[in-house]
Amino acid sequence: MLAIDENTITDAALEQMSATPDPRLKQVMAALVRHLHAFAREVDLTAEEWLEGIKFLTAVGQACTPYRQEFILLSDTLGLSSLVNALHDRRSTEAGTKTSLLGPFYRQDSPLRKPGESIAAEAGGPEICIYGRVLNSSGQGIPNASVQIWQSDDHGVYDLQKHDPSVMDMRGSFHADSEGRYYLRTVRPLGYLIPMDGPVGDMIRAQRRHGYRPAHIHFLIGAPGYRELVTALYLRNDDHIDSDTVFGVTESLVTETRPNDPSSPLPNLPSIRFDFTLGAAAAAEASGRVGADPSQITKSPALASH
Ligand code: BEZ
Ligand code: FE
Repeated sequence: MLAIDENTITDAALEQMSATPDPRLKQVMAALVRHLHAFAREVDLTAEEWLEGIKFLTAVGQACTPYRQEFILLSDTLGLSSLVNALHDRRSTEAGTKTSLLGPFYRQDSPLRKPGESIAAEAGGPEICIYGRVLNSSGQGIPNASVQIWQSDDHGVYDLQKHDPSVMDMRGSFHADSEGRYYLRTVRPLGYLIPMDGPVGDMIRAQRRHGYRPAHIHFLIGAPGYRELVTALYLRNDDHIDSDTVFGVTESLVTETRPNDPSSPLPNLPSIRFDFTLGAAAAAEASGRVGADPSQITKSPALASH
């Protein structure tokens, strides 16, 4: 019989898992166990700390509902979501616009809107226009590309955080025209504090982090035959542009509104022009969405199909 001690335990656990038929599940779980054990050995984890960790993860799970995803927030604040995005970008065969966080506030089935319509039903604040093209890697417009957009309102709050989270606001789905052009109206977003009233907020305070995200607008863009793009545009004149709590900002996605832009389809509004580039889809490539509508995550248990 193997004598279990602080070193042999890792091989013992790996041995028990070695018959896992799914090769990817086997690889991922074996690496997870190796790194988890190495972490416990490195910090000389005490029983008390282990229990704190269990309590913390329990609270993270308990904070999840069909309208709130505390685990995604945890992944985001630890930099894991951004890392997974970067790995996804690296697998692309053609250069495209960089990805950024989907975040915990994405919802599927947002209202379909006509070109030039506003996504703001209730929010006030200064209106802006966002326009540009959806292009392929040769610079040609992608006809009829779908453009989903969502953002916080002029107080820095998402619809999912309001009194009735079933009401959708500050989001919409558009279709680009035959040359890949899109345009819409919205209000200028504000930077905001990530949700701080749960266990992730407790962690952020314990680490003396400010908890802010700079002002930004999310996009999910797709077309048949192309890699779906999950990204966001960030407004340069924000105090937290260099210290995003969830590490979503990258230089190529930083922009600013421009007053009196003669090329804008709505020249009377300050406008942001941004052209998005989609790479070609590789055969049988898995989705690049680091996240999902929270209501979908609570529906389907992981690993049930194995
Ligand atoms: C957001 O962009 O909406 C977001 C992303 C990560 C954590 C919290 C909020
Ligand atoms: Fe956001």
